[in-house]
Amino acid sequence: MAETAAAIDGELEKLIPSEAGPLANLMASLRYSAIGGGKRLRPFLTLQTSRLFSVPKSQALCIATAIELVHCYSLVHDDLPAMDNDDLRRGKPTNHKVFGDGLAILAGDGLLTLAFATLNGADSGISSRLRSQLTLELANAAGINGMVGGQAIDLQAPYQTMGPSDIRHLQELKTGALICFAVDAGAILGSATRDERDALKGYASSLGSAFQIVDDLLDMEGNSNEVGKKLRKDTAAGKATLVSSLGIDEARREAQKMTMQAQRYLECFGGRAELLREVTQFLFVRNH
Ligand code: IPE
Ligand code: IPE
Ligand code: MG
Ligand code: MG
Ligand code: MG
Repeated sequence: MAETAAAIDGELEKLIPSEAGPLANLMASLRYSAIGGGKRLRPFLTLQTSRLFSVPKSQALCIATAIELVHCYSLVHDDLPAMDNDDLRRGKPTNHKVFGDGLAILAGDGLLTLAFATLNGADSGISSRLRSQLTLELANAAGINGMVGGQAIDLQAPYQTMGPSDIRHLQELKTGALICFAVDAGAILGSATRDERDALKGYASSLGSAFQIVDDLLDMEGNSNEVGKKLRKDTAAGKATLVSSLGIDEARREAQKMTMQAQRYLECFGGRAELLREVTQFLFVRNH
């Protein structure tokens, strides 16, 4: 994923230049939360699924960058006092702690809108038909029936009132939807067959579940220096997670089951999916 991170940073440097003058603070705020941090998992997934179908790198990188911009915006807003009220992200103070709430809200807005501008940039070589399909799917994944909807349920619902299946649904929306789009984008760009696309959908959905459970386990058991976020916050905030609902051991078993299920969906791609397989395993054992 280090190679992906460098490629994404290169793209973001071009898209969000430092500026002097009236927009200096806004641009600094966007750069602060977009450049130089994070695992860059979603772009990695887009680049790797694109590679399965020999999609030109410039096309895959364009969509991968757009998805990471959406993800970065979601983190800036997720950390705001009115949401999770966090003060540490990716090992440094959260955006609003440095730039204030107003500029953090606007930085999120700026990152989100820049994502769609990037996806539709003229020089990626993606046909206008595919760009329009990808625009619609990204909007759906990020929007009210995807991440925004999941974040809204997350804000409202204390875990006492939610059973495991409600929590799975919440997590599919808040985390799964964007991960699914990151994978599906590669299949769309690569004109995958129906079977290939379905296998990748199964893969992404299982991976997305495992990923959020591990995030919740890290909140409970991780080391803040390694994770780069304040931990032990979900329980105090009454967050509905599978860890709160099932307990640590059962939640870990579910994450393992989802990881193995994800691996099975990759079988039809044989050796071409080796890197995806490795990262899927890494995400289960990760400490950050
Ligand atoms: C954190 O995502 C938010 C969740 C959806 C759990 P990541 O764990 O991918 O965060 P970064 O991008 O590596 O910082
Ligand atoms: C956030 O989930 C998911 C998003 C869509 C941003 P969390 O609130 O658990 O993410 P962290 O733990 O703050 O990264
Ligand atoms: Mg949250
Ligand atoms: Mg949070
Ligand atoms: Mg979390």
